[in-house]
Amino acid sequence: DSLQMKVLESIEDFRSWREAVVGDVGVVTTMGYLHRGHESLIRAAREQNKILVATIFVNPAQFAPGEDLEAYPRDEEGDLETCRLLGVDAVFMPPRDQIYPPGFGTYVETESGKSSQNSHSEGSSRPTFFRGVATVVLKLFNIIQPKRAYFGRKDAQQCVVIQNTVRDLNVPVEIIIEPTVREHDGLALSSRNAYLNREERSKATILYSALTAGVSAFKNGETDADELRNIVKSEAGKEEGFTLDYVSVADMNNMKEQEGTVKTGILAIAGHIGKTRLIDNMILE
Ligand code: PAJ
Repeated sequence: DSLQMKVLESIEDFRSWREAVVGDVGVVTTMGYLHRGHESLIRAAREQNKILVATIFVNPAQFAPGEDLEAYPRDEEGDLETCRLLGVDAVFMPPRDQIYPPGFGTYVETESGKSSQNSHSEGSSRPTFFRGVATVVLKLFNIIQPKRAYFGRKDAQQCVVIQNTVRDLNVPVEIIIEPTVREHDGLALSSRNAYLNREERSKATILYSALTAGVSAFKNGETDADELRNIVKSEAGKEEGFTLDYVSVADMNNMKEQEGTVKTGILAIAGHIGKTRLIDNMILE
């Protein structure tokens, strides 16, 4: 019954299914525990491609020692049901040793993901993070062989890293960026929001309010990068339960931190509420 969604766990099985497929393939890559943010990528991809693949893989290469790799939330059954409801044709969900077999030793490193590039960014807070992201995404592209791949603006630096990887390495995949999906109070949806207790959840809106303060200042004519960072920092400081990691005003093409007058850019914030690390961003334009 070809109407049933395929669930494929080995590269070999995926490749044999893929060989028989005719038409454009779109892919949404995820680490699972799917929420409305992932769903909006899946819906966009469903509309634009004959064949739709979703991947679910919690990628160890993008977690630092001591991060939440083993605790990362999982819901295989729920995720498969979501994929079925949204019309996914095949889910690729490999076990770890399919993607990182013994002897694995080749990584993709982009300038836009490196810490030397920007001392206020995900690259500096999590030094090997984007190497892990770019590596697994390129591997998934080589396995899936999609025409289009969908990513969320919520992870803005990840979008730039992937766009630069496909550009620099001539990967024939079109990268499509979809807007950030938020809760009613502005909190960006994230699988990690599941870690927040009720009190922490209500404090978590601080990222949205701090960014909003920066965006309104920009719209009202404040274009100095330092001033914009300061406005966001001081707004973020109003929530005592929030420990700021960084505020960044970065170039949208290479993630370099901006100084002086800002024309366009990515305004980003990261920090902790209790033990949970949250990030968010808005576009300045
Ligand atoms: P994950 O956090 O599961 O996110 C998968 C995709 O969903 C990413 O493109 C992310 O930007 C997007 N996404 C997450 N929250 C969103 C939101 N609130 N609105 C819109 N899109 C959202 O990002 C990863 O996994 C991994 O790094 C991955 C790319 C799969 C590589 O391992």
